Amino acid sequence: MRKKALITGITGQDGSLLAGFLLEKGYEVHGLRLYAATDDSERIQAVADNRLFRLHYGDMTDGGGLWRILSEIKPDEIYNLAAQSHVRVSFDAPKATADINALGTLRLLEAIRGLNLNTRFYQASSSEMFGNAPAPQNENTPFSPCSPYGAAKLYAYWIVRNYRDAYGIHASNGILFNHESPLRGEEFVTRKIVRAVAAIEAGRQECLALGNLNARRDWGHAQDYIEGMWLMLQQDKPDDYVLATGKARSVREFVVAAFAQTGINLVWSGKEKDEKGIDARTGRVLVKIDPDLHRPTELHELVGNAVKAYEKLGWKPQLGFRDIVREMIDAERAAFRSADGRDDRAFLAAE
Ligand code: NAP
Ligand code: GDD
Repeated sequence: MRKKALITGITGQDGSLLAGFLLEKGYEVHGLRLYAATDDSERIQAVADNRLFRLHYGDMTDGGGLWRILSEIKPDEIYNLAAQSHVRVSFDAPKATADINALGTLRLLEAIRGLNLNTRFYQASSSEMFGNAPAPQNENTPFSPCSPYGAAKLYAYWIVRNYRDAYGIHASNGILFNHESPLRGEEFVTRKIVRAVAAIEAGRQECLALGNLNARRDWGHAQDYIEGMWLMLQQDKPDDYVLATGKARSVREFVVAAFAQTGINLVWSGKEKDEKGIDARTGRVLVKIDPDLHRPTELHELVGNAVKAYEKLGWKPQLGFRDIVREMIDAERAAFRSADGRDDRAFLAAE
């Protein structure tokens, strides 16, 4: 029997990668797609024509709609990836973030319960739930979120555990640390950096403005993490797992590594808001600080311990920091080289 999966957040980085991964495994893949007046299906172009792939309009804030979609599809597996996923934005839109990320998860679980579906459920939980708990963080680290996004994700995490215990739903939390790819949203720091570096190289942008350069993140590759999500739902028993590489780098290190890919040796001068990243050869200022990009509360360091995932799922990340930076920079440079991409990207990357 062919398995059916429903992916919420299908147009996002992880949703689009997971769709390709599951189609390759022979699944029938359904995607929940938020209506957008401007076409946002670029990331799913590669799978759009597959006869086993189908999109459904829906919104995580519309419980009736989710109920109807689940009753139509009766999926074997649900991957709940939809979210307002930008931490900085969650300070500006805390209620919408909670409605989508926290209550949206509850709405899906209620539909599974109410329809009595035999569905396995994956929840996209986040290392942001740990806040500034001492690193390294694992499944037993106490949570202390320091953003509305983290707090909303923590509600979702606990409601998943509660529905698992109370109603026997096969529901698992993947507590994923930052993971990146060329499909990463343009407002997240890694993609913002590589886009700017490629634009500066192409002579289309003067300078890159950033917030906190000293924040440290455990950056893995999204393709590795997609497989981990799937492995969690193939287990006999539901559980919660951290996926991480175990190594953290600062935003500053990411910037230096990205410029190095284009042959630029970046050196730093000045302090705090006056700090600047300078091309050591030409003396040109390429990076400056924009205090508006700082967050009201910052999460300083995330480093995950994924030993449980290794021991129970056999999961281990294959790609590391250098691979990620190289792949992301190569993708941006290729886009600038293509005549069509050049104009669009130059316009979008301009400050
Ligand atoms: P993403 O690129 O921002 O994708 C989020 C998806 O959710 C998009 O498809 C978005 O649709 C959709 N969405 C937003 N609001 C919605 C709503 N009201 N109803 C239905 N869909 C909605 O995020 P990602 O990086 O792929 O991450 C996937 C999930 O993992 C998210 O839940 C995120 O919070 C979580 N997570 C991510 C990371 C990471 O490092 N990437 C780490 C830990 C956890 P539009 O495109 O139309 O806006
Ligand atoms: N976005 C952004 N833009 N971040 C910046 C900038 C900037 O200009 N300058 C510095 N940073 C710093 C942020 O302050 C943060 O400390 C770090 O770069 C990473 O920011 P993001 O790339 O926006 O990711 P995030 O860690 O806040 O959140 C991501 O990872 C979480 C898992 O830990 C998102 O994907 C979340 O959805 C995910 O749950």
